[in-house]
Amino acid sequence: MKILVTGGTGYIGSHTVVELQNAGHDVVVVDNLSNSNEISLKRVAKITGKDVEFHRIDIRDFDSLDELIGKNHFDCCIHFAGLKAVGESVSKPLDYYDNNICGTVALLRALNKHNCKNIIFSSSACVYGNPEIIPISEQCPKGACTNPYGQTKHFIEEIMTDLHKSDPDWNIVLLRYFNPIGAHQSGMIGEDPNGVPNNLMPYITQVAIGKRAELSVFGNDYDTHDGTGVRDYIHVVDLARGHVCALRAITDKCGLEIFNLGTGHGYSVLDVVHAFENANGVKIPYSLKPRRAGDVPVCYADSSKAQRVLGWHAEFNLEDMCRDSWNWQKNNPNGYSK
Ligand code: NAD
Ligand code: UD1
Repeated sequence: MKILVTGGTGYIGSHTVVELQNAGHDVVVVDNLSNSNEISLKRVAKITGKDVEFHRIDIRDFDSLDELIGKNHFDCCIHFAGLKAVGESVSKPLDYYDNNICGTVALLRALNKHNCKNIIFSSSACVYGNPEIIPISEQCPKGACTNPYGQTKHFIEEIMTDLHKSDPDWNIVLLRYFNPIGAHQSGMIGEDPNGVPNNLMPYITQVAIGKRAELSVFGNDYDTHDGTGVRDYIHVVDLARGHVCALRAITDKCGLEIFNLGTGHGYSVLDVVHAFENANGVKIPYSLKPRRAGDVPVCYADSSKAQRVLGWHAEFNLEDMCRDSWNWQKNNPNGYSK
């Protein structure tokens, strides 16, 4: 298939381009490079042996999308492009609503105009809010999002649902990711956060490499086995392969479908710290701090629907994730910028 990948130079996008190319698909990437580096695609080409066509386009720019999509015949779009920093979204809500929502609407208009009515969207487990059911299946009601970033995921899901209602020719797969970590086993592509990382694994790897003195563990009084927050960490390569499997649903003309992509295992913050230390033989100093605002105590997936319908399941375990995250960080202490 010929696939348009928005946000394809970013963390999950670049890993997905590898898996798409390995599966024989033809990929065109658009990205405005606001949170990524084009070098990632050069690394992708080294891994797969195939160049990646790249266009520096902001998805809010309808005319550029119109021209690109008009010139190509895309079978499907995989839509990663978006801003994703939770804290920043609280201080700059308009930037998040403009970029994520207006960008998605412009993209959908351009796809619609050229009759490409197949899309796979990067949603998030954050749409469940503080989940009513654990493990979280797709039947779990959506909950209140505590920040504008999460709201954009919720609104975009609603926009896409309305679009499908208005025109059932659209096939739309909403993928709700749990917590992606890890990196490609080659150590050539990985997560390259700007500034101080918000998320757990990039913070741990920066402590391991000596950029940060210690990890702050946010909360040790949750109702969990060791008091720290529990999440479903998923290897980014497994997540990337989930997108290749989701193309099956598109081919089968699925209409609107929602899938959780997680491993089904919940690990606490301290479980991850200890797994990282054991996998890599590196000590991670940490101190216990108060809970972080907006955090939920426990969040892990029931991904049986993805297994049943898409034939997908996660293959890598926490040790693999810790090993590959460290391998990437060690090989690229400053990310893509040398
Ligand atoms: P990322 O920041 O590495 O990738 C997103 C890419 O989108 C970046 O390359 C950025 O430059 C690009 N982009 C942003 N706004 C754009 C615009 N207006 N036009 C064109 N390109 C634009 O993030 P990621 O971790 O790879 O996440 C990919 C998607 O998955 C995002 O939509 C994110 O919200 C979603 N998601 C991520 C996680 C996670 O933990 N990483 C969890 C759930 C959902
Ligand atoms: C966060 C976002 C979520 C987003 C996801 C991916 C919040 C409230 N949620 O999820 O919307 O989809 O990232 O970008 O920000 N932790 C520490 N110390 C740290 C960092 C994290 O103890 O320095 C803990 C957290 O309290 C949490 C766990 O580690 O219990 C995972 O945190 P994180 O990696 O930020 O992911 P989420 O909070 O699950």
